[in-house]
Amino acid sequence: MTVRSGGSVGSTPEQLCDLLGIQRPVLSAPMAKIAGGRLAAAVADAGGLGIVGAGYGDPRWLAAEMAETEGRRVGIGLITWAVDRVAVETALQYGPAAMWLAFGDPTPYVPVAHDAGVRVVCQVGTVPEARAAAAAGADVLVAQGTEAGGHGRPVLPAVEAVAAITRAVGDLPVVAAGGIVDRPDYDLAVAAGAAGVALGTVLYATDEAADSLAAKERIVDAGEGETVRSVIYDLLRGPEWPPGYTGRSLRSAFTDRWADRLDGLRGDLDAHRLRYQRAVECDDVSLRVVWAGEGAAAIDRVCSAAEVVQRFPKV
Ligand SMILES: Cc1cc2nc3c(=O)[nH]c(=O)nc-3n(C[C@H](O)[C@H](O)[C@H](O)COP(=O)(O)O)c2cc1C
Repeated sequence: MTVRSGGSVGSTPEQLCDLLGIQRPVLSAPMAKIAGGRLAAAVADAGGLGIVGAGYGDPRWLAAEMAETEGRRVGIGLITWAVDRVAVETALQYGPAAMWLAFGDPTPYVPVAHDAGVRVVCQVGTVPEARAAAAAGADVLVAQGTEAGGHGRPVLPAVEAVAAITRAVGDLPVVAAGGIVDRPDYDLAVAAGAAGVALGTVLYATDEAADSLAAKERIVDAGEGETVRSVIYDLLRGPEWPPGYTGRSLRSAFTDRWADRLDGLRGDLDAHRLRYQRAVECDDVSLRVVWAGEGAAAIDRVCSAAEVVQRFPKV
């Protein structure tokens, strides 16, 4: 089956659900290596679109995680600048419910996905990126706001990004990402023109996310102002991202110390990388990266993914 780009679809939650074959207008963000098969399956079971976060395109990791989804309809997400056509084709071999592309030019890959009968969801941070993704043939746009956990180069809070991008791309469905934790966040996003929501940080703090309980509890414990956007963890653990991208994580001694002194960090990078590596080895979550958005402040306990997804309406 070949699918065409979604010019004729509208932007209500009902239309988004129809387009993606889901009951709730909720997408789980493809958090690289954190959103594995278990989380995607749980989100799918609860009526949303579960998406496996294949990030930089490791085929062995993807194979193991897709096996965990046991025949459910789930999507696969890739970091566009970090992958090539082979990685995209490898992902498409699983017949995903959708392909999520973010951070880079999706133009070469949208037709490949469409030829395989797979819808394409493109995450964008600005109106020009939204226009480019629409022109490339994206079926759904995710408007990422500055609150969002993980990487991006957003310029507006999520609700404003939704409004600006909805105005710019007409009838393409736009999904809000950034700081969405609960039903009132959903209502605000839909009022701004969103057809649905994408959840990252709030699903990180669930039983099914692929990280330690200590990392999830750090998210729960985080209060307001305890996240920061930086390139510090990209320098410490690699790979470095293209210019303009930053990643939002929980604050740590690393981010507090180097936020305004990147040259100092670069000046003794090998030693700092070693220290970082040790923190990873002993899962020192006060030092190793925990990507998380500003919504962390509103998360009060680790729970099941189903409990989170069921906060949002069935349509
Ligand atoms: C731990 C983590 C990892 C992420 N990894 C990716 C990724 O690999 N690809 C991607 O498109 N977005 C990634 N993101 C960003 C999400 O797609 C989304 O924009 C963000 O989670 C939404 O904001 P929220 O975290 O406040 O829900 C990640 C986010 C988090 C929290």
